[in-house]
Amino acid sequence: MRIYVVNSYDEMSKQAANIVASQVTLKPNSVLGLATGGTPVGMYKQLVEMYQKGDVDFKQVTTFNLDEYYPLSRENANSYYHYMYTNLFKHINVPGDHINIPNGMAKDVIVECQTYEKNIESAGGIDLQVLGIGPNGHIGFNEPDVKFEAGTHLVKLDEHTIEANARFFDSKEEVPTEAISMGIRTIMRAKKIILLANGESKAKVIKEMVSGDISPKVPASILQLHGDVTVIVDQEAAKELKNCSQFALCM
Ligand code: GLP
Repeated sequence: MRIYVVNSYDEMSKQAANIVASQVTLKPNSVLGLATGGTPVGMYKQLVEMYQKGDVDFKQVTTFNLDEYYPLSRENANSYYHYMYTNLFKHINVPGDHINIPNGMAKDVIVECQTYEKNIESAGGIDLQVLGIGPNGHIGFNEPDVKFEAGTHLVKLDEHTIEANARFFDSKEEVPTEAISMGIRTIMRAKKIILLANGESKAKVIKEMVSGDISPKVPASILQLHGDVTVIVDQEAAKELKNCSQFALCM
């Protein structure tokens, strides 16, 4: 794991956008795994600016989003479909038929999950996966006590996640209690991963992810076993990484 501790949210966003843009420059037909949540909003903003300046071209890129609430329609302002179009897709030139987001209204969820997984495989697998992290250590919507071997599946959201995400909805009761999420197995197959975190509320979980036991209790801890993970955290999220030098690649 490479860990970059940066000074601000802005710096974290720029660094992450540079990594994504470099990936696309080096491999124009890259398959990107994309995340939602508050954390990557700044990174998407940077990518849109880079695209507008002509510094990066997404015309051959394919994307797969990590997750979507279930049931929730695309038109709902809290759907990850809506988030992705608002923050990124409507501003860049990734072709519409290269964009993949789990269907939050799928009639047959099992078929939807299997098809999603197959489509990732047919696209050649994910080259670069962007991740945020929930305060309880979830990645995508893989909640504590997750089965590490799972592919894309229907998950029941943890009470803490419902509470944490209620800020985007009018009330806690409106947050769907389930979601379709790529599984840990899907995420671990990505060739490269970048994980972003900012703010003090992530400090404890970042420490557990980086140096705690590898356990389904902290789903992100499995990333210790991946060969190419870059973690970009601001000073606050890095607060509990006291002795940074314990990590060979801490910058
Ligand atoms: C959501 C998403 C995750 C995201 C996490 C953290 O539950 N499913 O992909 O990483 O929340 O969100 P935030 O970045 O808003 O802290």
